[in-house]
Amino acid sequence: MPYPDDHLLRSAHTRMFGVEPELVTHAPGRVNIIGEHIDYSGGIVLPIVIDRYAHVAISMSEQPGVIRVHSIELQESLEHPIAKPVEPNNHWSSYVLGTIAELREHTPDAFAQTPGLNLTLCSDVPIGAGLSSSAAIEVATARGVCGLLGMKMTPVELAKLCQRAEHRYAGVPCGLMDQAVVAMAPPGALLAFDCRSEQGRVLNRPHGMGLVVIDTGIRHTLSDSAYHDRRAAAQQAAAALGQGSMREAYEMRTSTLSAAMPPALKGAAVHALSEMCRVDKSIKAIQRGDLATLGDLLNESHRSLRDTLQVSCSQADRIVEIAQRMRGVLGSRLIGGGFGGCVLVLTTSDEAPAIATDIIRAMPGDIDASIVLIDAG
Ligand code: GLA
Repeated sequence: MPYPDDHLLRSAHTRMFGVEPELVTHAPGRVNIIGEHIDYSGGIVLPIVIDRYAHVAISMSEQPGVIRVHSIELQESLEHPIAKPVEPNNHWSSYVLGTIAELREHTPDAFAQTPGLNLTLCSDVPIGAGLSSSAAIEVATARGVCGLLGMKMTPVELAKLCQRAEHRYAGVPCGLMDQAVVAMAPPGALLAFDCRSEQGRVLNRPHGMGLVVIDTGIRHTLSDSAYHDRRAAAQQAAAALGQGSMREAYEMRTSTLSAAMPPALKGAAVHALSEMCRVDKSIKAIQRGDLATLGDLLNESHRSLRDTLQVSCSQADRIVEIAQRMRGVLGSRLIGGGFGGCVLVLTTSDEAPAIATDIIRAMPGDIDASIVLIDAG
């Protein structure tokens, strides 16, 4: 856990609240290798956690009934009465306060004494970059509060509780992928997470797999209507096909989409059906260590996100194009909710550091791209 070391976080907490933390919890960010915009349709996704973490130090406060939160990065502090309803908004604190509100609703007994809570947060998961910074804060907060108040939850229960917090208090109708992988995936392994059965299967990382993540510099907020629209379109498309979800449509081998279907619904359906098929093929490719095929599937996924679902942006498209033309790159695509955020580049572990530098060097001056992660396995 390199950043910041526990000692720094603990002393910041003690300085801020005048009491030492009783525990420090962590939760990582994630990169989704493939399976984008299908978690809310019950699809299987294929993420991996990254070596970037949100950290929470927590203690009981002498001021009962009040939650006090301090963010080290933002140098902001706030207080919130535990019994006061949390106002939904997209301020960073809504992830923390919303998660605590959900925990209180889930296990009121644990909060019966209306304890006061002090929380100090810090995170090196870039915000709004499609790497699950919010899920990392939610899961680290939930782990801290559960640990402090003696609440027991399974990782899936915890993930679903954090997802509800995001829906209700941050206004993002996300699927379960981010919270599930952040709460469940072991470091370094890939998690094939089935968002319908809520079961995860750990896959070994293929030998020699290198990942580079490039930040487009473009920020998005998923509480904007575009993400809502894609999710709604997938639901309406499934209904138009007479199915409960696009996962069911996929399993029914639905291949004929009515010409009368509105273009947005058709785009959502074609993307979901093709992405689910790419995930199945990717799992097989990973199992046989076939990075070349996995790379081709990533390239196809980007085309579908760009042209069919239309969730990309010009900066991401240009970075992907530059990467895809580069020797040693096996595949590249936009990751996360879209409309900005990060681009994933698949390469071999030996070549990952040089390729990351070459991509940045080849970047036109009007794109403010930077390397977020070089994961050589
Ligand atoms: C965001 C959401 C996820 C998922 C992805 C797209 O990260 O939080 O639930 O829908 O977008 O795959």
